[in-house]
Parts: sequence; structure tokens; C-alpha cells
Amino acid sequence: MKNILACVLSLFTFCSYVSGQKVQDFDSIQLYTLTNQSGVQVKVTNFGAIITSIIVPDRAGKMADIALGYHHVENYINAVDKPYFGAIVGRYGNRIAKGEFTLDGETYSLAVNNSPNHLHGGVIGFDKVVWEAKPIHGQGWQGVELKYLAKDKEEGYPGNLSITVTYKLDDSNQLSVDYHATTDKATPVNLTQHTYFNLKGEGDGTILDHELMLNASRYTPVDSTLIPTGELASVTGTPFDFTKPKAIGRDIGLKHQQLEYGLGYDHNFVLNRDGEGLSHAATVHEPSSGRVMEIHTTEPGIQFYCGNFLDGRLKGKSGRSYVHRGGFCLETQHYPDSPNQDQFPSTILRPDGVYKTTTVFKFSTK
Ligand code: BGC
Repeated sequence: MKNILACVLSLFTFCSYVSGQKVQDFDSIQLYTLTNQSGVQVKVTNFGAIITSIIVPDRAGKMADIALGYHHVENYINAVDKPYFGAIVGRYGNRIAKGEFTLDGETYSLAVNNSPNHLHGGVIGFDKVVWEAKPIHGQGWQGVELKYLAKDKEEGYPGNLSITVTYKLDDSNQLSVDYHATTDKATPVNLTQHTYFNLKGEGDGTILDHELMLNASRYTPVDSTLIPTGELASVTGTPFDFTKPKAIGRDIGLKHQQLEYGLGYDHNFVLNRDGEGLSHAATVHEPSSGRVMEIHTTEPGIQFYCGNFLDGRLKGKSGRSYVHRGGFCLETQHYPDSPNQDQFPSTILRPDGVYKTTTVFKFSTK
């Protein structure tokens, strides 16, 4: 396929274990490189559908890799504290309280892998399985289509869930992520993309100077275990007000119970949506490089997590440590714990339905 390099990574080819359990035979792990006409490059592996690298120019045209991650798959598997760098997380991205939910009268128990809750699909979520991948392309774009069949009862969830995630990079520097899923039994589904960004370049200090704008007048406050209380609270007059661009670090040190619970920002924001379809969710600007990232999504929420659990122990692609708050995630999604909170938009997919969402990341400079 012209311009699409699909290379088998020899270092990606081995059998491995997660929590002492054999996961998969990794023989089919590949890395795909998408390139556009301005030299923007996105690398994707079919292990965890992980985006391993995003290379974009600064305002002077200097390229940098702005996505945290590794060169070798064993690092993704064995990372301390499992940060989910670059991965597609699911079947349910974010937390489900106490690893339990009731659906159509039946109670389901899931792994409590983020005590006392369930996080990001369990012990072997979609970030730790091998997806079937196929390079695709069209006029002005290149992409990868990734498929995974999550079996009935896999990680405790009901229903065979057939998922397709498609990444496309186009010549206007837009990276789109399309999610599609169907099921044969009712099941919760909440898929998201978990890239950590540092618009100065991965490994280049903290992200506290990045200016963030979130198109959200409300957020979902949490309890001390990061489960939403159910309230949709106004951001006005709080450190959670990003309705106008503000440095991430400006209010992060203020005394506020929610910042104490999150150890910083680790909260779902309720997006102000303009109807159906893609709607503006967030814009991030990094002043020294001039790099800008805009996010549009069909989803009702976005989890803003600013790398509070990074502590310098993990070293990334450039060999530099990923320091505390050395990357941020903006995970477009439904609200956490929706399967237990009837007042939140539903995350239940039924056999007669289709799960279909899109998120677009647009890169530019100013
Ligand atoms: C969660 C954080 C978690 C991080 C890595 C984010 O989506 O909101 O609480 O630490 O993922 O697991």
C-alpha cells in the first residue's frame, strides 16, 4: 500500500503474560505508519490499538513527537501502574463502581482492578489484546482499520461485542477516530482513546503551561474513589472552569475537595453540545511551540486527566522520564459509572442497536 509502511516489529513478536496469565500469541503484532503531505506522521500498533507516536510541526516547522509512549511492546505490557498510553480502552472506559452493575435484572461482577472499582475494561481490557488490522486509504488520507471480537463473559461483560476502530490521518492534519460496535446481548459499551499528550514533545517536562479550553459548563464531581456523585455541577467560580483558555497549572494547586480527590484534574466534563454530530469539545495551545490541538466529538463527555499518577519512573521513547503531570489525556466518552447511574446518558448497547461515535483531533499552530 503506497506510503503506508506496515512493518512487523521483531521486538513485538513474543508470547507474554499479564498478571501471570497468558494473554495472546503476539506473532501478528505490527506497526502502521500514516503520513500526510505535510509530513505529519501517526504510528499505530494493533496491540491494544495503541497510537505509539504523533509527529507534528511547531510554528517554525520543527517536528516533535507529542504522544507519550514506548518503542517496544513489552513496555506497554509491563508498565508500572499501567498508564494506558495511547490505547483504546474498553469495554467500558473509566470506572464502574465496585465492579458491579445490574442490567435487565441480572447483576454482573467485573474485576476490581482499581480498588474499590473497575477501571478501563478490567485486567485484560481492549488495550492489552491483539486487534486484527488492515491499512486503508482514500483521496487525501491514510488509515488503519482495527477489529476485535470481545467474547461473551470476557472480563465479566455480557455479549459477544464486535468492534471496529478506524484511525484516519488526512492532509489537513486531522486525525479521526471512528468507533463502531454491535452485540448479541445487551451490554454497556464506552470506548475511548487514551493518548497522553505533551505538545512541547513527549518527555519535555510538565504540561502545566499548556492552555486548555473545554467547551463544558458543567462537570461530574466524584467521591474519594473517583466515582461520580450523580450531580452535574456548574464549573463557574471553580478551578474546573476552562470555558475560556487557561493554563492547566493555574488553579491546580487551589484548595478544593475535588482536586484533592483527583490528586489534580481527573474528572469528566459535560460537553456543551450543539445538536447531533461532531461538536467542539476542547482546544489546547502550548505557547512556546505554538502547537494547537482541537478536539471535536459526537460524545457527551470528556475525561480530563492531567497525568497525576506519572511520577518519573517511566521513561519514554526519547529516554526521558515522564515526570509528574508530564502528559494529559482528553478522553471523549460517556460519563463514568453510567451503568449504575440512570440519570446519565445510557451506555447500554442492545442487539438491535449500533454503537457509533467519532472523535477528531486537529493539529495546527499559532
Ligand atoms: C483515569 C485516571 C487513571 C488513568 C490511567 C484515566 O482515564 O481517569 O484516573 O489513573 O486513566 O489509568
